[in-house]
Amino acid sequence: MIRKAVIPAAGWGTRFLPATKAQPKETLPLFDRPMIHYIVEEAAAVGIRQIIMVTALGKRAIEDYFDRSYELEQLLQAKGDEKRLAEVRRISEMAEVVYVRQREQLGLGHAILTAKDLVGNEPFAVFLPDDVVEAKVPAIRQLLDVYERYRCSVLAVERVPDCDVGRYGIIQGREVGERTFQIERLVEKPKLNEAPSNLAVIGRYILTPDVFAMLERARPGAIGEIQLTDGLEALLGQQNIYAYEYEGVRHDGGTPLGLLKASVAIALNRPDVGGEFRQWLHGLLAGASR
Ligand code: G1P
Repeated sequence: MIRKAVIPAAGWGTRFLPATKAQPKETLPLFDRPMIHYIVEEAAAVGIRQIIMVTALGKRAIEDYFDRSYELEQLLQAKGDEKRLAEVRRISEMAEVVYVRQREQLGLGHAILTAKDLVGNEPFAVFLPDDVVEAKVPAIRQLLDVYERYRCSVLAVERVPDCDVGRYGIIQGREVGERTFQIERLVEKPKLNEAPSNLAVIGRYILTPDVFAMLERARPGAIGEIQLTDGLEALLGQQNIYAYEYEGVRHDGGTPLGLLKASVAIALNRPDVGGEFRQWLHGLLAGASR
């Protein structure tokens, strides 16, 4: 059983400036919920109860979001708005969230290492909050099924077009089952001619705690940062690592356009507003093509 998840949320979010000048990137809304809400919800849906959020200066809004707000609850109670009251309470009950600060932003591998003492000596999940996945079976559940079979680290992968391989960690793997690969090599942000495949790592991982020792020894790699990918590549020398081509649709919430697309996709699927929004969008597109 995986009980803990690490969510690195310490980055500056410079791609979203000026929106992120006074607000953490992770609290930007996907339709009517902060991006980070969907991530914690995915963890909670598979029974992960403890979230270790790696934050930094200026990220207080994340803590407030997952905390209780008695003033707000009282206000909603006084107004008789039971529905919103229940929703607001549910957020603070979704999971137990603990926070640790990454004092220097030395890369994703370093952010994960910051959570070492809180994770302890047990396997854990990692969610990158930029990757929002819509799936019938939560992406992390799909990885857990592979983990339960092999008891080794498992990474989510998806096929990306050639023009995008340089943005991701790319794996070389041997297919060992349906959608499942045993990883032979991992490269962070390779040039296209050096990429071993088109299978890109996306932001869901189940990791064994042995990765921490590798991260402790890791030197800055691609773009001068301590990369999780390099730690995992080192771990390959000691134990097997698997990749699973998950089923679902991923939205890249890491750029303003990606976040907008994700909002549109989520709003279209929402039973309360989807119909009205679809109609409006059709009208807008018809007007634009005239
Ligand atoms: C990170 C990881 C990369 C992975 C990607 C998925 O990169 O380093 O291996 O493919 O997330 O979104 P970043 O997006 O932080 O550059």
